[in-house]
Amino acid sequence: MPQEVRGVIAKAKGEPVSVETIIIPDPGPGEAVVKVQACGVCHTDLHYREGGINDEFPFLLGHEAAGVVESVGEDVTDVAPGDYVILNWRAVCGQCRSCLRGKPQYCFATHNATQKMTLTDGTELSPALGIGAFCEKTLVAAGQCTKVDPAAKPEVAGLLGCGVMAGIGAAVNTGEVGRGDTVAVFGCGGVGNAALEGARLAGAKTIIAVDIDDTKLEWAKGFGATHTINSTNVDPVEKIRELTDGNGVDVAIEAIGLPQTYEQAFYARDLAGTVVLVGVPNPTMEIKLPFIELFGRGGALKSSWYGDCLPSRDFPMLIDLYLQGRLNLDGFVSETIAIDDVEEAFHKMERGEVLRSVVII
Ligand code: APR
Ligand code: ZN
Ligand code: ZN
Repeated sequence: MPQEVRGVIAKAKGEPVSVETIIIPDPGPGEAVVKVQACGVCHTDLHYREGGINDEFPFLLGHEAAGVVESVGEDVTDVAPGDYVILNWRAVCGQCRSCLRGKPQYCFATHNATQKMTLTDGTELSPALGIGAFCEKTLVAAGQCTKVDPAAKPEVAGLLGCGVMAGIGAAVNTGEVGRGDTVAVFGCGGVGNAALEGARLAGAKTIIAVDIDDTKLEWAKGFGATHTINSTNVDPVEKIRELTDGNGVDVAIEAIGLPQTYEQAFYARDLAGTVVLVGVPNPTMEIKLPFIELFGRGGALKSSWYGDCLPSRDFPMLIDLYLQGRLNLDGFVSETIAIDDVEEAFHKMERGEVLRSVVII
């Protein structure tokens, strides 16, 4: 029987979001219905509402979530009702050219539910990142459910579903930060702080946080920053060189998505170092760099999609490290809110007041 639940909808470009009644179909083949327990508010939800992702309104927002599987389609064997899961937006297909070459973390044909969730008048909804979890229940592809230890509370576990995973993965998976490395992270929001945390986890010896907001830099210290730079009035490249014997860092991570901070990251790294871009630029931005510098500095310029994560490998491992006290995930939860408070949470995010507001459902 299809079920009626409450969910947060963006109806039209720029309009405030509203809580509406949503119809959730029973799971078909390859699908699961998940009772959502918590879902973080991410910039991407706001980008959907602003029409910055695509025009397929109305959107069912929310995508950084944890919950319990309620029911599964008849052929589903990987997860079962009662399983505690983090929802991911990388349910790998196993058959695309990347999966077949042993690189499922880049899967080019990830799975989402086939059936549509709708409004009560039958209007089909576009779930944010194929998830749609500011909702009491949501329909996803079974592969989007990653089982983790239920000892981790949902408001913390859910964050690994998007931004925090993107940041940790930018350092650990994409940047391949190693023991004794020097690392700089530009932008200390949820993603940047997670990159700092990833660098700490990987054993980096010097971890430099760069931001233009002193409050953010103060928070960054709680995520492993050994040094902080407010780049409002200081050249962060020079300062980073000073902190690294004049050399620059092994890995420079850009977690904002701006040309000027990408350029800073580019020049702040040591010869043969790596630049990782995890901030998402907007489509109008351009960068200009002297071509000879691309060659002369060697190393690697990489982009990190969702932290190059493989949910089945990374989520349970990171939850275990969290439960052992080796990963600060609690620090990302600035506040917990109700499902009716998402619009206000967007404003707090725009004002830079929170790392993450998390909806408890
Ligand atoms: N120099 C340094 N820091 C800056 C600058 C700048 N020119 N401009 C902004 N910042 C800082 C902000 O003060 C803030 O602390 O960058 C941080 C950005 O953090 P958030 O806005 O909270 O964004 P976050 O959720 O961390 O996402 C960062 O990653 O996944 C992408 O789409 C996401 O592009 C976004 C980026
Ligand atoms: Zn694939
Ligand atoms: Zn997100």
